[in-house]
Amino acid sequence: DWTMRAFREEEIAKIRQQVGKGKVICGLSGGVDSAVAAVLIHEAIGDQLTCVFVDHGLLRLDEAKTVVDLFRHHYNIPLVHVDASKQFLGELEGVTDPETKRKTIGRLFIEVFEQEAKKIGGADFLAQGTLYPDVIESVSFTGGPSVTIKSHHNVGGLPERMNMKLVEPLRELFKDEVRKLGRELGLPEIFVGRHPFPGPGLAIRCPGDITRDKLDILRKADAVYIDQIRKHGLYDDIWQAFAVLLPVKTVGVMGDGRTYDYVVGLRAVTSTDGMTADFYQFDMKFLGETATRIINEVKGVNRVVYDVTSKPPGTIEWE
Ligand code: XMP
Repeated sequence: DWTMRAFREEEIAKIRQQVGKGKVICGLSGGVDSAVAAVLIHEAIGDQLTCVFVDHGLLRLDEAKTVVDLFRHHYNIPLVHVDASKQFLGELEGVTDPETKRKTIGRLFIEVFEQEAKKIGGADFLAQGTLYPDVIESVSFTGGPSVTIKSHHNVGGLPERMNMKLVEPLRELFKDEVRKLGRELGLPEIFVGRHPFPGPGLAIRCPGDITRDKLDILRKADAVYIDQIRKHGLYDDIWQAFAVLLPVKTVGVMGDGRTYDYVVGLRAVTSTDGMTADFYQFDMKFLGETATRIINEVKGVNRVVYDVTSKPPGTIEWE
């Protein structure tokens, strides 16, 4: 792709100019955006870059392994893998308000990066995979008064005391362009084609308070759902699909016993940039089969519902 080859060269020059001989620390989230940003910056400045993958305990099943494999083995880019799940889950305990969750997570990310920066003797820059839609959705809602819909974990600048400047080479790109750039940089198709995953992770797919038990249930249900989607060859037709664990228990029956367990919500949308989206029209047979598999394979769930809301008026994530 000619445009992306040119973009790559231009951005590499810009990064070198901005960074000079400085040190950069880059947070990886497991998503495509931060991975593409990291590979691009590594190409520009090599070992002036330190990549940090923060496991906040809010990741999907096997996420950490996928990311570590990609960086250490496919690219040979050094990666610091921080297990911060105790800290994140500890501070999120009892937090139910969506914006408070997001802000708590954003603050903790910064704290972890600060700690890691200290370990390498200080960093001058923090790199992030912020995209154009992240910037606008966090800032305002076009046409009306300025209203924050959601505080994206990686938008809004850094606390002043930090003394780090931001490097955000993808700030003008949309998702499909980031994927093109990722291919241009040689990222494996299986990684480039992955559905988007938000920085705050499963925290915003678990309305109400977050516990390790709930996260375990959610991770398993999500894995079954995605497995179903892949098996039916639907993954690439869908822009984003995931499970949500509702903070509600309902009554069911299994064998000749009564059950009282959680409800899982399934979400799948088509979109081009995440700014607007349509719910995906699965056939009912697929949904029925998926519900049966989730209830049979995931202990703690006895009911599954499908979200038929488009964006607007719904957002893609539930929080
Ligand atoms: P919403 O829920 O706002 O989501 O319709 C639009 C797209 O953005 C993703 N998203 C985030 N990504 N940090 C991210 O990196 C965030 O804080 C965040 N919040 C939402 C969401 O998964 C969807 O793809």
